[in-house]
Amino acid sequence: MAQILDGKALAKDIKDELKVKISNWVNQGNRSPSLRCIIVGEDPASHTYVANKIQAALDVGIAADTIKYDASLSQEELLAAIDALNKDDEVDGILIQLPLPRGIDERRVCNAVAPEKDVDGFHIINIGQLSLDMPTVVPATALAVVEMLKRFKIQTFGRNAVVVGRSKNVGMPIAMMLHSDRNHDSGLGMDATVTICHRYTPREQLELFCRNADIVITATGVPKLIKADMIKPGATVIDVGITRITTEQGKTKLVGDVDYENVSKIAGAITPVPGGVGPMTVAMLMQNTFQVAQRLRQSQIEN
Ligand code: GUN
Repeated sequence: MAQILDGKALAKDIKDELKVKISNWVNQGNRSPSLRCIIVGEDPASHTYVANKIQAALDVGIAADTIKYDASLSQEELLAAIDALNKDDEVDGILIQLPLPRGIDERRVCNAVAPEKDVDGFHIINIGQLSLDMPTVVPATALAVVEMLKRFKIQTFGRNAVVVGRSKNVGMPIAMMLHSDRNHDSGLGMDATVTICHRYTPREQLELFCRNADIVITATGVPKLIKADMIKPGATVIDVGITRITTEQGKTKLVGDVDYENVSKIAGAITPVPGGVGPMTVAMLMQNTFQVAQRLRQSQIEN
């Protein structure tokens, strides 16, 4: 049976470490890092995600607040609200929960957040810096995957990795770090040979690429896409997918992209869903928030 990569336990360790670091920083005379999460509309899953982020922030010593708007909020009103947070010296980190209601241009909104307050790493400048292996704010889910590979000591140097899913917020930044040179400035490169598969990759090609991979990372939201006969014995499988399904008994449960029951008999290491990448993403968001607060304070001292 595969080693289970327990993201919940690792996330707790990281948040405990962060709590100590933030407490030391505040004891040195700094104001607590602060985070504002904007949520527009009533999507229950989004409200749960934001509530989890706020609770995690408070747990580690970050002052955090949610700003809720009705789904009827216009794009101009949202951009004005973001502008006010950009200008507020009491605010370090800004997060706009996605998806946004139809009619609001998400790219325009992500680019409206000041890049130095962009805890999601979704601003065009932060994505550009990531693409150039420069130090930057990295999207939390991608950072969670990289941190898990590092902390669980999964070798990536010269290995074959497949990323299934090419979203700009998840698959793309994961592939970006996996293929990059570890000696470049970001320090996040992992020197793997990376193949990106997506919805138009023919099924038999997806199977071939996965079977040849030492590491399979999947982020599609398609339950049971990745089956046991697609996995090289001993490979590492990281499941970023999270889908709520209704069982035959009429109960709802969360599942990933991987046929966990069967793949875990073949893989060398595997993340569970829930309890894998999800909790790590929240921990990495907290790390990003502390990082932007430290950088902002540094630049305030320098100017
Ligand atoms: N919606 C789903 N995942 C995310 C995320 O990582 N950040 C934001 N802002 N919205 C999301």
